[in-house]
Amino acid sequence: MNIRLRPATSHDLDALYRLEQIAFTGDRFSRRQLWHLLNRAHAETWVVEAAAAEAAGPGRLLGYGTLLFRQGSRRVRLYSFCVHPEARGGGLGRRLLEALEACAEARGSEWLSLEVRADNRVALRLYRRMGFRLERWLPAYYEDGCAAWQMVKGLEPGAMARAG
Ligand SMILES: CC(C)(COP(=O)(O)OP(=O)(O)OC[C@H]1O[C@@H](n2cnc3c(N)ncnc32)[C@H](O)[C@@H]1OP(=O)(O)O)[C@@H](O)C(=O)NCCC(=O)NCCS
Repeated sequence: MNIRLRPATSHDLDALYRLEQIAFTGDRFSRRQLWHLLNRAHAETWVVEAAAAEAAGPGRLLGYGTLLFRQGSRRVRLYSFCVHPEARGGGLGRRLLEALEACAEARGSEWLSLEVRADNRVALRLYRRMGFRLERWLPAYYEDGCAAWQMVKGLEPGAMARAG
């Protein structure tokens, strides 16, 4: 399958909302929250989509990830991250995460952190393989009472600029 990775725009709101409903079983963002994320200056969202045939219009969204930046902080947070259930297990999660890391590095971030459900074995495995380490245990973090692991990874700020 041909795929494309690109920054999201406000035109992606409807498709992102649909994907959010399908990809997560709980703790989902509302349409309003997604709108806010797409339009606020200190968040950046990337999408992965199936490249559409020339005349077929925009491609189908297969995944998205959102980074939250904090002014004056070198630490950026992976705030949301998912792949469409029908597209999982084929490496899209890894590729999307690599794109988000490159985006954070290009903006000078030194650390990427995230929270993941303690029972989410697929995501925990992906993050560990991508170089994240366990940082902190967060009891009863999610709305159903499940705990989270906070994980963190050191980045190479400016890496893309140096390579280019
Ligand atoms: C976590 C998630 C983004 C991973 O996306 P993905 O495209 O499947 O990820 P990848 O294919 O790049 O890699 C995932 C790894 O888990 C494996 N995997 C994927 N789905 C799996 C499944 N259902 N059972 C077991 N292993 C699975 C893959 O084979 C791969 O491992 P490998 O490289 O050793 O073969 C996706 O499962 C998802 O959207 N989950 C629901 C939302 C979520 O949990 N988001 C994370 C919140 S912190």
